[in-house]
Amino acid sequence: MAIPTNIVPQDYRISKNDRRELNGHGSVIVWFTGLSGSGKSTLANAVEQELFKQGIRTYVLDGDNIRHGLNNNVDFSAEGRTENIRRIGEVAKLFIDAGVVVLTAFISPFKSDRDRVRSLVGSEEFIEVFVDCPLEICEQRDVKGLYKKARAGEIADFTGISSPFEAPENPELTIATGTIPLHQSVEQVTNYILKKIIKQS
Ligand code: ADX
Repeated sequence: MAIPTNIVPQDYRISKNDRRELNGHGSVIVWFTGLSGSGKSTLANAVEQELFKQGIRTYVLDGDNIRHGLNNNVDFSAEGRTENIRRIGEVAKLFIDAGVVVLTAFISPFKSDRDRVRSLVGSEEFIEVFVDCPLEICEQRDVKGLYKKARAGEIADFTGISSPFEAPENPELTIATGTIPLHQSVEQVTNYILKKIIKQS
C-alpha cells in the first residue's frame, strides 16, 4: 500500500458520534457476500426499504452499479477484485463516519479482502452476511444469462465456474436464500442491524 507523504490529516469539529446523535441511531456496514445470482441485491434492496420505513438513514453500494462508475477501471482478475473491494471498504468507512447504515452487495469472493474491510472499521461496525445459495440454484436461475456465457467460455474468471468463491467461516449471519422466503430473511437481517445501531446511539 502506498504511504502518503506530505499529507497532513485534518481535524473536523463534527464527529461520527455527533452525526449519530443527530440521526438518533448508529452506523454500520452490512456486508453481503455470495455468488452472482445468490440474491445479494434483492436482499439488500428489501432490507434497505424496511430500514428506511423505520426512519433509518441508509445507502446501498452495489457491485453491478459501482462497476459502471467509481470502479469502471477494475476487472475480474484476482487483483481487480481485490482493488474493487479495497475501494468499497474505504467508501463504506466514510459512510459509517457520516452516520449512515451502508449496505454493500458485492460477490467479494476472497476472505482476505473481506477481512481487511472488517479490520479497517472493527468488528463492532461490520456485519458480514453470507448470502448462501448453492451454485446449482444460481446457475439454474441465471437471471443475467452470465452462467450460460461462462460455461460456453465467453466470460473468463467467472466466480463459481472458473474463479473461486471462499465462503465466510464466521459470518455474523448466514441467509439461505435458496430455501428461506425473502420476507423471513429480511426480518432476520433487519432485526440484527436494528439491535446493533440502537446500542451505538
Ligand atoms: S467482485 O467479485 O469484484 O466482488 P462484483 O460484485 O463487483 O464482483 O461484480 C459482480 C457482478 O459482475 C456479477 O453479479 C455479474 O453480474 C458481473 N460479472 C461480470 N463478469 C463477471 C465475472 N467474471 N465473475 C463474476 N461476476 C461477473
